[in-house]
Amino acid sequence: MSPHLTIVDHPLVQHKLSIMRKISTSTAEFRRLLREISQFLAYEITRHLPMTTQTIETPIQSMDAPFIDGKKLALISILRAGNGLLDGILELVPSARVGFVGLYRNEETLEPVQYYYKVPDELDQRMVIAVDPMLATGNSAVAAIDLLKESGATNIQFLCLLAAPEGIAHLQEAHPDVPIVTAAIDSHLNDHGYIVPGLGDAGDRMFGTK
Ligand code: URA
Repeated sequence: MSPHLTIVDHPLVQHKLSIMRKISTSTAEFRRLLREISQFLAYEITRHLPMTTQTIETPIQSMDAPFIDGKKLALISILRAGNGLLDGILELVPSARVGFVGLYRNEETLEPVQYYYKVPDELDQRMVIAVDPMLATGNSAVAAIDLLKESGATNIQFLCLLAAPEGIAHLQEAHPDVPIVTAAIDSHLNDHGYIVPGLGDAGDRMFGTK
């Protein structure tokens, strides 16, 4: 497997993902589980944050203690489903800056259409984590990362819940420098661009829309 592709196969993640997949799982439970899993994925994706040391005083003595170095990381939600991953990650990394890329999928061409773009400044100096629960065709992820690179980002990672092989191939071909972290890789995409077996439309399931 590519060193740029990580599957977080922790039993707790897999168990929670299986519950999310079930058609009988409620909107509230789906949202809660997504938030929980996002923290495991964030734990994995932040593994290589740069570190520094500072001298601190414990109640016993002074020590050189490790702290995260550099500019605050930038968390970029690919709207709208990316928002379901934000809160959980922000709980772990409360000082992260947050940006939004609004792309909707033209249901005929499956191509992304941009309608919103607002990101933190100095992206060139930050670790940038783009988040979207579903890496399906990869069109949105590729388009979002194109935009982030145009804004100066050079250190980008992509965090998703579920990926299709087609989406991984597309993203890796367009942006081979962008590591992907996911909880699972499913079988394939269907004719409508949905991941099979998947979990349906992540946005609809987390927001209770149809
Ligand atoms: N987006 C979703 O929400 N679900 C899929 O299966 C594919 C894209």
